[in-house]
Amino acid sequence: MRAAGFDAIRSFSTQTMNILHVIGARPNFMKAAPVYKALREIGGFSQTLVHTGQHYDERMSGIFLRELGMPSPDVNLQVGSGSHARQTAAILERLEPVLIERTPDLVLVYGDVNSTVAAALVSAKLGISVGHVEAGLRSFDRAMPEEINRILTDALAGLLFTPSEDGNENLAREGVPKEKIHLVGNVMIDTLLQLLPLAEDRYPGLARRFGLSDYALVTLHRPSNVDDDRTLGNIFRTLREISREIPLLFPVHPRTGQRLERLGAPADARLRLAEPFGYLDFLALEQRARMVITDSGGIQEETTFLGVPCLTVRENTERPVTVRLGTNVLVGQDMACLAAEARAILAGRSKKGRLPPLWDGHAAARIARALSGKSQATFPHRMAAITS
Ligand code: UD1
Ligand code: UDP
Repeated sequence: MRAAGFDAIRSFSTQTMNILHVIGARPNFMKAAPVYKALREIGGFSQTLVHTGQHYDERMSGIFLRELGMPSPDVNLQVGSGSHARQTAAILERLEPVLIERTPDLVLVYGDVNSTVAAALVSAKLGISVGHVEAGLRSFDRAMPEEINRILTDALAGLLFTPSEDGNENLAREGVPKEKIHLVGNVMIDTLLQLLPLAEDRYPGLARRFGLSDYALVTLHRPSNVDDDRTLGNIFRTLREISREIPLLFPVHPRTGQRLERLGAPADARLRLAEPFGYLDFLALEQRARMVITDSGGIQEETTFLGVPCLTVRENTERPVTVRLGTNVLVGQDMACLAAEARAILAGRSKKGRLPPLWDGHAAARIARALSGKSQATFPHRMAAITS
């Protein structure tokens, strides 16, 4: 099948280009918001927002759309939770009629979650151009479900917007033609820069509420860390050990919450468990933390930007620039290493990072400029052929 890309985009510069964004899980929202805004500002686009419903709790979804100033989604596919196959299949099945009805010129997908790959697949099969925001990242670890999503999405996309040079290198190695790749920088940092002043206003209230002054922040949700009781138990014991030296605040992802409950891991005043925070509260807490212990992808980037030491409980990262240039240290699942690195940070021996190029708040504007320099893509014949 010929990949739907700019090679297949016809020129209709006077017409409005119809873009359909697909979002679904927490890290999608902060990536899509600046792109949506940049396209609105530059003009010449009509935009549709489809939420797959992969994440659905107020604290995993609704709060982000509001805080990020996104409109309510035009469509919510309400797929909910399930195995990878069920969730992916539900998105394929429910998104297809939406695409057929709305005939977008381009579908934009974000990051590496199941919603990303499912939307890319159904679009490409309909002959609709796919743009991937945050393309080219690779952990080279296919045990990680997101790595499969990244590879497949990039193979299907005709437009690949990369956050850093390593993304371009990975895509080149996979044989992706240069003209499909646009190095635009990191859209998450656009959101961070826009909302940091608002987030800073939240800090005094949070500090009072949680009794914080000097603290570290923790997030964990990777299946490789939380799905196995022994692994999660080991991590939790190490967190407790670290909490004797610095209080920890741990907003708990729902996947992790279920596992911790099963494990009966007790919290206490120095290891505080909390509901997941909204974007503004989390950013405020992240900025003031002595360190962040995490397995999140986005948080590795945000801490690098904020200059906050980050200990990543993973053997590898698809964001190597945060280790090479930033404040990130991979500790893997070696708990002695986690404890030692935490102690080093508390003793003042933390990694001083610097900013990766193009993490400057203008990544979404670069995407908008790239798109407005192109033209409307329409595949009516192909779509008719497939659906008839
Ligand atoms: C998903 C993404 C992961 C991303 C993470 C961000 C995939 C394969 N994984 O992982 O890449 O880092 O989101 O947070 O796409 N649940 C709720 N409420 C919700 C959503 C989920 O209770 O609103 C619970 C359900 O029990 C569900 C579990 O969390 O089974 C996991 O949700 P799921 O979306 O399948 O994967 P995440 O672990 O959230
Ligand atoms: N985040 C948040 N509240 C929390 C934890 C994380 O707003 O309680 C934000 C965080 O600032 C970052 C994004 O969620 O912008 C990262 O999402 P997540 O860790 O769920 O997914 P990943 O990046 O690992 O795919």
